[in-house]
Amino acid sequence: MKRPEGGEWEADLTDEWKTSPRPGWEYRGIGPYRNRYWAYSKEKMRQFVHEGRLHYVSTGMPRYKRYLDEMPGVSLQDLWMDIFPALGKERVGYPTQKPLALMERIIQSSSNPGDIVLDPFCGCATTLVAAEALSRKWIGIDLSSLAAKLVKRRLRDQHGLFGQIIDRTDVPARTDLGDEVVLAEYKGTLYGEQEGNCNGCRHHFQYRNLAVDHIHPRAKGGRNHAHNLQLLCTSCNSAKGVGTQEALVAKLKEQGVRYDYGGSR
Ligand SMILES: C[S@@+](CC[C@H](N)C(=O)[O-])C[C@H]1O[C@@H](n2cnc3c(N)ncnc32)[C@H](O)[C@@H]1O
Ligand SMILES: [Zn+2]
Repeated sequence: MKRPEGGEWEADLTDEWKTSPRPGWEYRGIGPYRNRYWAYSKEKMRQFVHEGRLHYVSTGMPRYKRYLDEMPGVSLQDLWMDIFPALGKERVGYPTQKPLALMERIIQSSSNPGDIVLDPFCGCATTLVAAEALSRKWIGIDLSSLAAKLVKRRLRDQHGLFGQIIDRTDVPARTDLGDEVVLAEYKGTLYGEQEGNCNGCRHHFQYRNLAVDHIHPRAKGGRNHAHNLQLLCTSCNSAKGVGTQEALVAKLKEQGVRYDYGGSR
């Protein structure tokens, strides 16, 4: 875009004396400002005239015309007034939806094509749509069921942008934990590791009175990996149920059954 002459897009044609005065001359009867000299030779000034590059202020002082497309411009500032809220057709029905143009600017200025964009509060997926359009990989997370519904709809409806959508609701299984152990065999190892103590109440029990428990319950995707197993006594086992280990420990402390002096697990 070219700017009309005038305004802030004019450049001074004079330069400051840094050390000693330079020989001065007049250009069409006008001299440089006090303590300054012409920054260009007479020949260069003639060339500027020829190219229509000079503009004159009321005193007759020449100024150099600068055009926007010749300048690197200024870096983006932290107040963005040129992006407007998502309106009309862009709106998908999520209360806090951000404009696509905003997410595109953020992604473009902070990543390269092929990078991974993570939005852990992705709402209705605006970031993901922008990332896909800009050839980034992406991961979106949100706890709201409305967001999940809208994300699915948006990914499906965003014409031609996304490929096949696979909608899975089962708990993903980890594949980075190595082989599972055989519980009956592993119980002995756990008894040794825990020195015969229940991992809930910390009381000592005979081998037969302790049972193998999944720290992260099987019902919620926990597997027979060594680090997910512990021995609990019957009472602690039923107190834990399908709750978390943290909840069990909190309950035992509250009941005064367990005291921690900075021990493990
Ligand atoms: C401001 S909205 C994001 C809007 C989004 N940029 C868009 O264009 O739709 C913030 C989101 O964070 C989600 N959220 C809040 N706490 C969360 C949490 N602990 N884990 C995941 N998402 C969460 C909310 O459900 C909400 O969708
Ligand atoms: Zn116990």
